[in-house]
Amino acid sequence: MKERIAELRREIEEFGIDGEASLEQFRISFLSKKGLISALFDGFRNVPPDAKRETGQLLNDLKQLATDKYNEHRERLAMTETVQSSTDLSMPAIPFGEGTRHPISIVRNEIIDIFSRIGFTVSEGPEIEDDNHVFTLLNFASDHPARDMQDTFFIEKKSGTESDPHDVLLRTHTSSVQVRVMENQKPPIRTISPGRVFRNEAVSARAHCIFHQVEGLYVAENVSFADLKQTLLYFATELFGKEVRIRLRPSFFPFTEPSAEMDISCNICGGKGCNVCKGTGWLELLGCGMVDPNVLEACGIDSEKYTGYAFGMGIERATMLKYGVNDLRLYFENDIRFLNQFRTEIL
Ligand code: DAH
Repeated sequence: MKERIAELRREIEEFGIDGEASLEQFRISFLSKKGLISALFDGFRNVPPDAKRETGQLLNDLKQLATDKYNEHRERLAMTETVQSSTDLSMPAIPFGEGTRHPISIVRNEIIDIFSRIGFTVSEGPEIEDDNHVFTLLNFASDHPARDMQDTFFIEKKSGTESDPHDVLLRTHTSSVQVRVMENQKPPIRTISPGRVFRNEAVSARAHCIFHQVEGLYVAENVSFADLKQTLLYFATELFGKEVRIRLRPSFFPFTEPSAEMDISCNICGGKGCNVCKGTGWLELLGCGMVDPNVLEACGIDSEKYTGYAFGMGIERATMLKYGVNDLRLYFENDIRFLNQFRTEIL
């Protein structure tokens, strides 16, 4: 009996299993009811009592050996089968969809970067504001048309048609952050405020009810209009390139005096005149001016001692001019064919 067990051990160890068929053959030969190991168990009856203990142990070990080998190969085969049926290793890899920055974010970050190089910090304020910060403290007359329901989204209007300092509304410009900064900080103040603004406009290629602005503010002793102009020239050449020229046209804003609008030379035609600049050679970029003394005083800053300049621009507008985008709606549609065109930008 012992010899037969040793013989079977060798046979089991040497049995080559290379696929489903030989695995099944192995099972039938050794592990089935009519197999070789079962036959040995049947013969166990005839083993003399004094050898039963030792032989029994050997038999059990033999069976364990065959079972382990069978299970091991069955698992291995099952695994190779799934790998083979589900994976074609010659197939090209699934493309990895890398995200891109939104063009508005790219330009906003670039604007922040340009101004931070000359000492401007970034400050932010709430999108849901009160009348005071959006209008009253910025010197808007109580009958100014911007306070009209037509232009402003009101969250809560405290009184009838008259503007009330407690009216709650969505800010129509980031100039409201100027007020918050001046209320809370002492000059010198040098800050820019990027953020979302809201206006009650029908959406079209040229207008949107949500867009982005960057507000700039510099308040200190002896700040002049020349400082403003030099800063804006620096900004324009950093954003649009060394060849760009700027011009300032007189304008009006309630919170600045004097006020101006700044144009840049058309970067499509280089200033010669084309259909983008409507033949003028110039493109309007931003509003600016010297902070009105009324605004300084309303925010608790001594207008005898300090002067300041401010400017504000639309980020969509700056992005349009920089990249030649001709429809505002593209910024909000998230069409991947549009967004992918800004793939190479790192900012
Ligand atoms: N707040 C103005 C607007 O939304 C833009 C602006 C103009 C901001 C002149 C300023 C400024 O700071 O000085 O149209």
